[in-house]
Amino acid sequence: NHYGVIMAGGGGTRFWPLSRQKTPKQLLNLSGKDLMINEAVERMATVIGKSNIFIVTADLQAPAMITATHGKVFPMNILAEPAARNTAACIGYAAMEIYRKYGDGVMIITPADHYIENVPALTEIFKTAILTAEEQDKFVTIGLKPTFPSTGFGYIKYDATVSDAVKPVIEFKEKPDEETAKKYIESGRYAWNSGMFIWKASFILKKLKEYVPDIYADLKKIGDAMNTPSEQEVLNDVYPNIRKISIDYAVMEPSAAKGDVLVIPGDCGWNDVGSWDMMDVLHTPNEDGNILLGDVIAIDSKDSVIYSSGKTVTAVDVEGLVIVETQDAIMVCKKDRAQNVKKIVDALNEAG
Ligand code: GDD
Ligand code: MG
Repeated sequence: NHYGVIMAGGGGTRFWPLSRQKTPKQLLNLSGKDLMINEAVERMATVIGKSNIFIVTADLQAPAMITATHGKVFPMNILAEPAARNTAACIGYAAMEIYRKYGDGVMIITPADHYIENVPALTEIFKTAILTAEEQDKFVTIGLKPTFPSTGFGYIKYDATVSDAVKPVIEFKEKPDEETAKKYIESGRYAWNSGMFIWKASFILKKLKEYVPDIYADLKKIGDAMNTPSEQEVLNDVYPNIRKISIDYAVMEPSAAKGDVLVIPGDCGWNDVGSWDMMDVLHTPNEDGNILLGDVIAIDSKDSVIYSSGKTVTAVDVEGLVIVETQDAIMVCKKDRAQNVKKIVDALNEAG
């Protein structure tokens, strides 16, 4: 039995005003091809049967998610979290649901918000990972070649002398500071953690119990109520109080130190599409370096991202800007400050 679990709980605030609480990044069609969630489902479906694909999302987003994935994911496989409690809770909840309701098996866990250029390559990596996790009680990760000293990723040090495609991990370090990240890159011995994980439901539950017993205790309460009339009530009661911590800190770091983690270093054209300045991952800029989406006219302008959802958006002699028009909001910022768009959302939330 194999299962796919897509984590789709993020707010994606950096794509405001296109991304909203009810339509976060994973429900957007940023590539012009399909919604990010559907692309994630499609990647999963190359190795996992339709009835075994799950999505974990916020209950506020669940209705839109059910509509968006209609015909591709069973509505009962869309797990709605009463509150976002980070990825240890999200993965633990999915593992508990699978283990209690469907039986133990290998889970492939992926985020919903990545762009993968080479899906066949990823499929091959998934296949190797499934076989490995089936045979051994280990956590299998997918490692990517790092390109700059990012402080936003996890770093995986592995034994490169092992010739097998699957290598033993020596150290897992989540989000190092910049100085450390630089050292890691210079050493040439680290991979980025892709955020995709492959392991048995029973094994992750066992290790959650060992490393974060408080979280496990909450998950067990939820699990014990599954298939009983009080299932939803217990979930609503317990879930919002689960400790917020990511799986990387909670389980991957201590497990790597114990020798329980493996990595498949792989190249599948992986990209994190995190903010407006990264639209060049999805769209080829024109000869002036502009990405113009929708009804846009830009004259004597360069290196800008301009998005119209309906109105005609025009610009003259602008450089390095992001301009986004939606039905009820307009956002303008410098491209190299696109990370700070989330500050607008914070300010709006504060203003109520
Ligand atoms: N359902 C649900 N509930 N999903 C969640 C929650 C939650 O509470 N929190 C996060 N997610 C989803 C996000 O939507 C995203 O798809 C994925 O889980 C990872 O969460 P991020 O918040 O984006 O994590 P990160 O980017 O800081 O770090 C992780 O990913 C990196 C690669 O992109 C780590 O695993 C790093 O080690 C890794 O390098
Ligand atoms: Mg992320």
